[in-house]
Amino acid sequence: MSTRPGRVAAVRESGAGRRPAAWWADAVFYQIYPRSFADSNGDGDGDLAGVTSRLDHLVRLGVDALWLSPFYRSPMADGGYDVADPCDVDPRFGTLEDFDALVAAAHERGIRVTVDVVPNHFSEQHPWFGEALQAGPGSPERDRFVFRAGRGPGGDEPPNNWPSVFGGPAWTRVPGAGDAAGRRQWYLHLFAREQPDLNWDNPQVRAEFDRILRFWLDRGVDGFRVDVAHGMAKEPGLPDLDLSVVPGPDAGIVMPARADLRWDRDGLHEYLRGFRRVLDSYPGDRMAVGEAWVPDAERLARYVRPDELNLSFNFELTQASWDAADLRAAIERSLAAMAGVGAPCTWVLANHDVERTATRLGSGATGRARARAAALLQLALPGAAYLYNGDELALPNVDVPDEALRDPSWERSGHADRGRDGERVPMPWSGSAPPYGFSTTPDTWLPMPDGWASLTVAAQRADPASTLHLYRAALRLRHRFRGGPFAWLDAPPGCLAFSRGTVEVLVNAGAGAVPMPAGAVLLASGPLGDGVQGGGVLPPDTTVWTRRAGPRRR
Ligand code: NOJ
Repeated sequence: MSTRPGRVAAVRESGAGRRPAAWWADAVFYQIYPRSFADSNGDGDGDLAGVTSRLDHLVRLGVDALWLSPFYRSPMADGGYDVADPCDVDPRFGTLEDFDALVAAAHERGIRVTVDVVPNHFSEQHPWFGEALQAGPGSPERDRFVFRAGRGPGGDEPPNNWPSVFGGPAWTRVPGAGDAAGRRQWYLHLFAREQPDLNWDNPQVRAEFDRILRFWLDRGVDGFRVDVAHGMAKEPGLPDLDLSVVPGPDAGIVMPARADLRWDRDGLHEYLRGFRRVLDSYPGDRMAVGEAWVPDAERLARYVRPDELNLSFNFELTQASWDAADLRAAIERSLAAMAGVGAPCTWVLANHDVERTATRLGSGATGRARARAAALLQLALPGAAYLYNGDELALPNVDVPDEALRDPSWERSGHADRGRDGERVPMPWSGSAPPYGFSTTPDTWLPMPDGWASLTVAAQRADPASTLHLYRAALRLRHRFRGGPFAWLDAPPGCLAFSRGTVEVLVNAGAGAVPMPAGAVLLASGPLGDGVQGGGVLPPDTTVWTRRAGPRRR
């Protein structure tokens, strides 16, 4: 068990002006996908000891907190989001002692640690699911999940028409002989067949998650990321969906339509209040951030009402194109909705489920330049920010060969959706060939590509113009924004501009160079140019932070 972080966050005034803002309100969180971060024992999978061994990279980067994606016991049907024992470490990632050592080492360095909690489903290998299959229809064991009789003659059709996120139906029929009439029930899984959904109406489920939260809080974690918070409550009666509102199998993870009855049901908020009560019963500003893919910012705001989650990811920037109007609209929607409930925005450019920014916004040098410009946009916005491991290197997605793909979407979609492996390839640390210091074996769980020598942490550490140096400088300067009020500024066509207190931010998402703002340059995401009149210009795909010159402009 570990002590609290040594570095005490400065007490700041929240936007509302009275309450001191908690540490998480403008923290920079760094998401670690443990399997892909650092491998300490040479088996090709990253692990917790590997994370501990690389903490100094994160100290130098300047992040405030970690979010560890699941490292719990799991058959890994969905990258560990199929949890078989939520209170133990999977042997591939190490032991509980390794976890304690990681928390202690992070806290010693002033870095907080948050972990995933996965309440929508368990793994089919969780003991509860085995008990449910054994116990049969109508049993209390089955009531912890969502079992139903099928439709049609013999109950041979799924209970409703819901598709799973990973393709195919959201129902699987239980194996075995069935009841006396030979009828077998079906169970609901909004994700893979190996991830049976839990029934949160059942008090045992709610009590079990209280226990899980307490288990990790007692071990010293500072908070949680709540997986699929938007799925926890099911529409009463489980009616059929209008399938025309459901995204196609290759759409990736997107905001669902309001008519998509699988998500964002009002009943889930009571469960989130239960989480909050547990968090608030611990000292030290423990927090939870929700993963809620919901139709719009207004619905998202409901997850961060004062007695619910502390933060909820604003995914708008993961969906916006590299276009000033699109970006501005995404930001405005998020700011307005969160202001309505007095919660900070939580900005995300990338994670383990969406294409990496350097690929999503373009390819090659253009993608990289835009990713860097987007980073300076993200990190200047008011609120919390989540980075995904490798963002600080501007890693691109990798074209993982068919035979190496692991994401369940690949098989379940009948090979229509290549899935998310491309953004999960291990981190390159050093050297000029795979495994680039990630492991001692080149046989890494996902193959690493050739051509990443200049992207490694070591190479970027040696290059002052690298993305790694840009991120470090941005995180060093970010304190200047603290409490700085946000205001939009007039901007040249193709650009967006805003101020945060005394700092002005200009993002050039257009096709041509634009004049530089008047103030002194604090940081730029790329080289600045000379204009024809001798003044400086901001090239396309570049963001600059400047110190405001003279009185406030508009
Ligand atoms: C969201 C997680 O981020 C994703 O990786 C996972 O597949 C689903 N939830 C299901 O747990």
